Amino acid sequence: PPAPPELREQTLVLVKPDAVQRRLVGDVIGRFERRGFKLVAMKLLQVPELQEGRGYVCGYPCIIAPRCHQADRGLLDRHYQHLQQKPFYPALLAYMTSGPLVAMVWEGYNVVRSTRAMVGDTDSAQAAAGTIRGDLSMHVSRNVVHASDSVETALREIGFWFQRDELVAWESGDSQYTY
Ligand code: TYD
Repeated sequence: PPAPPELREQTLVLVKPDAVQRRLVGDVIGRFERRGFKLVAMKLLQVPELQEGRGYVCGYPCIIAPRCHQADRGLLDRHYQHLQQKPFYPALLAYMTSGPLVAMVWEGYNVVRSTRAMVGDTDSAQAAAGTIRGDLSMHVSRNVVHASDSVETALREIGFWFQRDELVAWESGDSQYTY
């Protein structure tokens, strides 16, 4: 039988460019897999950067312009809508466009709350040891991952980063909690 709705909660996780550059993608994915959550969508992409007078570029000598990034121009502005007036926003944009990132959708029981707990405090210095940020990050401006902060936010954010047909429904069906 298909999983009941409470086991089908979903959240968006981004492995940010610093973590891709530090080869930490597997470490992050492994934590969600071992916890028992189900990977239902994943892609590597680079969000283009807005440069004065040059439009949106990724800084890489790319020959497949203009649609090589699989990301449209306002993606980060929508994703970080609540932070646009913050003084650190320009630096945040530069960081998030500094290289490829991995976008994923994880599914499972209470996945939004569990994921936030696994990710740890926004401020790396406050993040508990054992959390992703507490183990892998030293500073808030290079904090390795993003995770949606509520079920409603997750729905919205998944829509920013994925088309409907990029999510894959699958079942392992061996127990009540690992559909
Ligand atoms: P926020 O949504 O407050 O935190 P979280 O990622 O834990 O949900 O902030 C989004 C990102 O903005 C955060 O992950 C890193 C960046 N940021 C800074 O660079 N400096 C700051 O002082 C803060 C609060 C956030």
